[in-house]
Amino acid sequence: MSAFNEERVLSVHHWTDKLFTFTTTRDPSLRFSNGHFTMIGLKTETGKPLLRAYSIVSANYEEHLEFLSIKVPDGPLTSRLQHIQVGDSIIVGRKPTGTLLIDYLLPGKRLYMFSTGTGLAPFMSVIHDPATYEKYEELILVHGVRQVEELAYHDLLTQHLPQHEFLGELVSKQLRYYPTVTREAFHTMGRITDLIESGKLAKDLGLPDLDPGTDRAMICGSPAMLRDLKISLEESGFKEGNTSRPGDFVIERAFAEQ
Ligand code: A2P
Repeated sequence: MSAFNEERVLSVHHWTDKLFTFTTTRDPSLRFSNGHFTMIGLKTETGKPLLRAYSIVSANYEEHLEFLSIKVPDGPLTSRLQHIQVGDSIIVGRKPTGTLLIDYLLPGKRLYMFSTGTGLAPFMSVIHDPATYEKYEELILVHGVRQVEELAYHDLLTQHLPQHEFLGELVSKQLRYYPTVTREAFHTMGRITDLIESGKLAKDLGLPDLDPGTDRAMICGSPAMLRDLKISLEESGFKEGNTSRPGDFVIERAFAEQ
């Protein structure tokens, strides 16, 4: 059996000139956990597929697949992928994997999901999973971007998800969304690391400072953001988990520069 399925593009939405999402059909045999990534790509003229890792935005019980991508003008894949249209073919790897799973975190009271840019993608899947709401009393989704228009899924998170047919009640009671912008005026501004260190994030949310006794964290963003946030959490006593040993926090690089 091939390591890939060929799927058809169902919809494309361009958030900005650098950021877009698309949905595809999903082979019913594809299994994954919420938070996983997989290889996706396009067939090329040479017959050799062009593939990169992408977190799956959609939840594992949904019929379609969804992905969030940046557009890099000279990126081997995204320079082409940004032009995909409804009906086009996409190749999707049959072996999703990754570390941003609640299974790799110890139980706790609150789950913080810290993301920058396309690092939001896996958390869209995680917050659509009822198991996340069962394991943690409170979910805090933090998304840091440069410009307001890069706050992908902002309206879905603030308006539609609390009204969701099955998840609405859980979302309304347990999910907090904290968008933050660094390069233009917005009601919440600043880098995630600074917001944690200054205590502003906790103050705005009306929560205590991060504490490994009660809190767990998942981090997905640029390498610099991962490094700085990891140092900050470790200084506060958080221990990193992985696929073989659950911990207080888990990390994955947002798959950018493609
Ligand atoms: P800033 O505008 O101050 O660089 P990028 O598009 O470069 O991935 O950045 C996405 C968001 O992540 C931006 O708001 C950016 O802030 C922020 N960011 C970049 N590097 C770090 C870091 N080391 N720690 C925390 N946030 C960061």
